[in-house]
Amino acid sequence: MRKKVIAANWKMNGTLEQANALLDAFAAAPLTVNENKIAVFAVPAPYLMLAKEKLSGNPYLQVAAQNCYSKKSGAYTGELSVEILQSIGINYVVLGHSERREYFGESNAFLADKVNICLEYNITPIFCCGEPLEIREADTQNAFVAKQLQESLFHLSASEIVKLVIAYEPIWAIGTGKTASSAQAQEMHASIRSVFAAKYGAEVASIIPILYGGSVKASNASEIFSETDVDGGLVGGASLIADEFIKIINA
Ligand code: PGA
Repeated sequence: MRKKVIAANWKMNGTLEQANALLDAFAAAPLTVNENKIAVFAVPAPYLMLAKEKLSGNPYLQVAAQNCYSKKSGAYTGELSVEILQSIGINYVVLGHSERREYFGESNAFLADKVNICLEYNITPIFCCGEPLEIREADTQNAFVAKQLQESLFHLSASEIVKLVIAYEPIWAIGTGKTASSAQAQEMHASIRSVFAAKYGAEVASIIPILYGGSVKASNASEIFSETDVDGGLVGGASLIADEFIKIINA
């Protein structure tokens, strides 16, 4: 049985005061998390240790960094290393978010290096993929996403690939209020799973969690999450509102 993952992506949002309030709310809320369904909070780097501490009472609430660099340590001013993350007990990193690809020029090859160093340090990448609007309009999204996966992940062995969490986020649905329909999400998630199945076999593909991201809200979460190949969500805007995100986790 593959794990369900509901991940919050705070992006570059929230003052310390707001972070404290949100984390306290999540720590105190009755959440339906368990060993098969975890919630992960990708908070801004200065709040990683705070989040670890505040959520430490529940082993099914995990903390993620939103990015890391491809080198273990060294003269890379401003970057965040896996060695640092491991030393503060962070087990997850979001990699390849479309905002990193677009604003910071992260390529599929660069992301392959980041995936490698995460696995070397036993940190689980939440690897993002997804197409821009023009690709969706040209109806070539399946091939576009397959190429992202092939170029960043296909050098991995089967025992490595099963350590990843994949997040499919159509760029046209991120922060736009325009969610993919649950049928569009299911269609793409099935396509992603078939890409993995072709390379690693159906059994390996069947245990990789594939999350949907892009304008997930309390009002649409249960419908999207009920699709066969949708194993949870990566949630931006709605993860900054405690009541909304609590409902999404429990959806
Ligand atoms: P959104 O962001 O939920 O605000 O659309 C999702 C994401 O970018 O991870």
